[in-house]
Amino acid sequence: MCGIVGVLGREAVAGQIVEALKRLEYRGYDSAGVATLEEGCLTRRRAQGKLRNLELRIKDEPLQGRVGIGHTRWATHGKPTENNAHPHASDRLAVVHNGIIENFRELREELTAKGHRFDTETDTEVVAHLVTEELRQGKAPREAVAAALPRLRGAFALAFLFEGEEDLLIGARQGAPLAVGYGDGEMYLGSDALALAPFTDEITYLEDGDWVILTHAGAIFHDATGLPVHRARQRSMASAFLIDKGNHRHFMSKEIHEQPEVVGRTLAHYLDMSEGAVRLPFDLPFDAKDLASITISACGTAYYAGLVAKYWFERYARLPVEIDVASEFRYREAPLKKGGLMIVISQSGETADTLASLRYAKENGLVVLSVVNVATSTIARESHVVAPTLAGPEIGVASTKAFTCQLSVLACLALAFGRATGALSAEREAQLVSSLIAVPGLMAEALKREPLTEQLANQLSRARDVLYLGRGTSFPLALEGALKLKEISYIHAEGYAAGELKHGPIALIDEDMPVIVIAPFDPVFEKTVSNMQEVAARGGRIILIADQRAEHESSIDFQAVIAMAEMEPDFAPIVYAVPVQQIAYYTAVHMGKDVDQPRNLAKSVTVE
Ligand code: AGP
Repeated sequence: MCGIVGVLGREAVAGQIVEALKRLEYRGYDSAGVATLEEGCLTRRRAQGKLRNLELRIKDEPLQGRVGIGHTRWATHGKPTENNAHPHASDRLAVVHNGIIENFRELREELTAKGHRFDTETDTEVVAHLVTEELRQGKAPREAVAAALPRLRGAFALAFLFEGEEDLLIGARQGAPLAVGYGDGEMYLGSDALALAPFTDEITYLEDGDWVILTHAGAIFHDATGLPVHRARQRSMASAFLIDKGNHRHFMSKEIHEQPEVVGRTLAHYLDMSEGAVRLPFDLPFDAKDLASITISACGTAYYAGLVAKYWFERYARLPVEIDVASEFRYREAPLKKGGLMIVISQSGETADTLASLRYAKENGLVVLSVVNVATSTIARESHVVAPTLAGPEIGVASTKAFTCQLSVLACLALAFGRATGALSAEREAQLVSSLIAVPGLMAEALKREPLTEQLANQLSRARDVLYLGRGTSFPLALEGALKLKEISYIHAEGYAAGELKHGPIALIDEDMPVIVIAPFDPVFEKTVSNMQEVAARGGRIILIADQRAEHESSIDFQAVIAMAEMEPDFAPIVYAVPVQQIAYYTAVHMGKDVDQPRNLAKSVTVE
C-alpha cells in the first residue's frame, strides 16, 4: 500500500525522504514522488515505477528544499502513471495520501462547479482542491485543513505541504496509520516507524481521527473534534531490526531461512520449556471454559493460519470455530453472541477488512484477541488482548515467517484453551508441548531440502497450472501453497481438500498438470493415498511432501518426494510450510519474477 513520508529538516530533505521511502518499498508501490519548497515555492519530482527512477529524476533536477513530503503509490484510482503519482498539488499546497477517499466523485463535482480544474484520475487530487478552496476563503493552512477533513469519507492518512510555509507540515489519520517522529531539530511524518527508523526512534502514533501540526517547535495533536489532545511519545523498536537482505538474494529467502529462529522465539514466549506446559504471557479477560464457540476472521495467508487453527481449537479444546475471510465477515451481518471470543489474525495489523471485522465484533460485545506481528498497529491497539507473533519485520510481500509464527501462537492458544475447557489431558498437553518445542529444529532440518525444491521449481516454472492437495490441517496449507505460487510466480494454482478431488477438479488432471500433495503420516493419510492413486491413474505428476513412512506406505510412482522428518502430524503445517514456500520462491526466481514486490500486490492492504 502507499507509503507516506514528511520531513521538516535543517538541510535539503529530498535525499532523506527518498531513503525513508525505500524503507516503505516492502509495502508495494508502482510510482513515487517528492515535493519540497524551493525558496518557498512548491516543486515536485515524480516518476512511474521504482524509486530508482525518482532518484534519477532528482539527480537531473536536484531539490534543495528543507521541508518536504514524499510518497510511494500503490494505484487504486487511475493507472500507475507519472501524472497520477503523488504528491498532488494546487497552486497553494501539495498533498500525499494513503487510502481511499470514498466521496471523491461528489467533491470533485462540487469543486469543479467552483472553478477547480482536475488533472489526474486519482481520488487524492480532490483533497488538494478541497483544502485550497478553504485557503481561498481566507483561512490559514491549519484552519483550512481542519475545515476540510470532516468532509472526507473513507480510510486515509494524509500529509500536507504549503506554498510559502517553510516551518509547517500537517498530517491527518483516519483509518490508515501515520506516525510523528522527533529528531534533533527536525520533525518527521511516516506511515510507520520503520520508515523513520534511520532518523529517530522516538515516535507518536496518531489515533483515528487525529490530525497534527508539525513545526520545528514540535507537534500539536488534535482529535476528530478539532480539540488539542495529548498523544504519548513512545520508543520504537524498529531501528533494532536490520532491514537488509543479509546474504540472501531476496527478503523472501531471508525470511524463509529466519523461521527456525523466529518460530523458536515466538514459542519461547508462550511455552514454559522446562515445565513442558503452555504459559500465556498475558491474562485472558474471560475463562475459556465459559466460551460456547470461537469466531476467527483474517485475510489471505493469515486466514489460512486461522483455518489450520480451527482444527486445533476444535480438536484440543472441543470448541466449535466459525471462520471467514474478513472481507465477507464484515458485511454478512453474522449474528454474534455477546461475551463470545473473536480472534483476528494479521501480520501488519493494518489490514482494512480485518480491522473492520474486529470493530464489528467489538460493537456486538465480543472480546477481541488479535494475533499480530506489529505491536504498535491499529489492530493491536484496538484489541482487548494482543497475542504477539515475534517474527520481526516481514518485508517480502509474500508472507512466510509471519505465517509460521501465527501458527505457533495459535497452537499455543489452542492448547491453553484445551486445558481450560478440560478437553485436553495434562499428559496429552505435555506430549503436544514437547512436539512444539521440536518444531524449530525440524524447520531447520526442512530447510536442508532446499536443493530439491530448487530443482523441482525448475520443472514447475514450465507449468501452466498447479494443483495442491491436502486433508485435515494440510488442506489449509494446500490453499496457502497455491496462494504463494500464484502471487509471486503468476502461475495459476489451486488448493483443494484432497477428498474433493473427485467432485470436480479431477477433470483437470493430465500429464501436464503437476499435483503437489501435502500428506504427513496422520490418521487421514490412507484416504489421501486413495486420492493420489486417482491422480496417478490419470497420468498426473505427483510431487509428494511427506515423511519417510508415508512414502513407503503409499507405493505410488511419484515424480518426486520431499521427505520430511517424522513428527507430530498435527503440527506438520508449521514445518511443511518451509518446502511449500521454497517451491514458490524458486519457481518465481527461475522465471525471473520480482519476488519481493510482485505485480499488483501490496504488503499492507489498508483499503478494502
Ligand atoms: C500473503 O502472502 C499475502 N501477500 C496476503 O495474503 C496477506 O497475508 C494478507 O493481505 C493479510 O495481511 P495481514 O496479515 O497483514 O493482515
